[in-house]
Amino acid sequence: MRLAVIGCGYVGLVSAACLAEIGHEVISVDTDLEKIAELNRGEVPIHEHLLPQLLERHRGKRLKFSSSVGDAVKQSEAVFITVGTPDSGGGEPDMSAVEAVAAEIAGSISEPKLIVEKSTVPVCTCESIRKVLLLHGAGTGRFSVASNPEFLREGTAVTDFLYPDRIVLGVDDDFSAAMLYSIYRPLTEGAYYRQAGVIPGPHAKAEPARVIVTNAKSAELIKHAANAFLAMKISYINMVANIAEAVGADIDQVCTGLGADARIGPQFLQAGIGYGGSCFPKDVAAFQNVAFQCGIDFALLSEVTRINLEQQRQFVKKVRAALWTLRNKRLGVLGLAFKGGTDDVRESPAIAIVRELLKEGAQVCAYDPAAMVKAREVLPAGAIEYAENEYQAAARRDALLLLTDWPQFARLDLHKLRTVMKLPIILDGRNLFNPNQMAAAGFLYYSVGRALRVTETMPNLWHGVRFAPQAVPVMTARPEGLPV
Ligand code: UDX
Repeated sequence: MRLAVIGCGYVGLVSAACLAEIGHEVISVDTDLEKIAELNRGEVPIHEHLLPQLLERHRGKRLKFSSSVGDAVKQSEAVFITVGTPDSGGGEPDMSAVEAVAAEIAGSISEPKLIVEKSTVPVCTCESIRKVLLLHGAGTGRFSVASNPEFLREGTAVTDFLYPDRIVLGVDDDFSAAMLYSIYRPLTEGAYYRQAGVIPGPHAKAEPARVIVTNAKSAELIKHAANAFLAMKISYINMVANIAEAVGADIDQVCTGLGADARIGPQFLQAGIGYGGSCFPKDVAAFQNVAFQCGIDFALLSEVTRINLEQQRQFVKKVRAALWTLRNKRLGVLGLAFKGGTDDVRESPAIAIVRELLKEGAQVCAYDPAAMVKAREVLPAGAIEYAENEYQAAARRDALLLLTDWPQFARLDLHKLRTVMKLPIILDGRNLFNPNQMAAAGFLYYSVGRALRVTETMPNLWHGVRFAPQAVPVMTARPEGLPV
């Protein structure tokens, strides 16, 4: 089919490349002329595994780039809206880009078209898009609007698209349903997986993708409910980790026992410094706002956000406890992206923690395999040093902080690390290492939800000292609602 994808961000570019991969003729559109020029030159503006291969395979063939929404719409049977819906500041997403694109699409509809919202949007956005299209002259009966939310994770977005847990089709009419079924048929009937040279999936045998058909509002709600639930699961396990640490239990063991329950599942139980990214923080706030608009107080989501921010503060408290004073302390930081596998620093807990350490007068030298360019854009010039590799970031440092779960960090040469560091103190915000392994390597190793590990050469330096690292905040008042 002939498709247009409006918006060349993380979602749009991956969606356009994958739609071309499964056999469609795709025009990927962005009003950022430089970005379109980059893409036409064969450059890839975002760090996303497998995306360069797909762009190389289809650029100029089934995948073309354009800065004209009108032209793309005129040449397409279906138009995907994948523009950003950033937090407008008050928890409500900024829908102006979606509205502007809908208005521009309206002027180019001359025969029946399907408009598909793929950006994460509040429930009832489909209705708003329909109104904008009519308002701007698209004739009634000339178009349908459907919801087809994405569930792409940065770093695995290509395989998430091609090997989805499910494809949700939020449709309110037969035309929308027929079109979306046709678009995804290569995945839902499995023909794509039987081709030669396909992108390999996460499992040995690829099953045809599951389709879930709902009305548009339910599809929009599925997306917000999914992201808010996943964020809640992370905040929940981080609180359990804090309790485990306070009582001397081991969060890894707790999660093994927890995740073995089929109703809970082992995924998304990784304790750490909390979630970030362009989705979870924004979507939790947006979903809570949807509830508020309906007169419902979704207070649980306030707690999810509060716990997430508190997790960052707890980690900074741990750094302070490990080093006593932070002023002029030289800290190495590994990881600036909000998660491993991406260059994205939006709402990154690592960046938030670095900012807090700088506020307390620490000197930071950071290394990230992909995110240093974007980190330079968000941190003041000269605020931190940037290293060429992990060991350079750690050299002659009072402590090393692990803030992003890049797999390569877990494979560091601990002996070499110990040699280059000034003090053998590691604070691991992503539990990348085994505590016993770290003690054996001679480190004072702090992590999340696991007891501080000391060694013969590094006894518990703070024994008996007030606010010792494993101390927990003293409860000054009994939390409300706790049985007396
Ligand atoms: C998320 C959703 O997973 C995806 O379905 C949606 O389409 C977009 O938002 P993304 O934000 O790219 O994807 O990354 P994800 O892997 O979900 O991680 C989000 C954040 O949670 C990261 O900061 C990550 O470090 C953190 N996280 C994730 C945890 O702290 N613990 C976990 O167990 C999992």
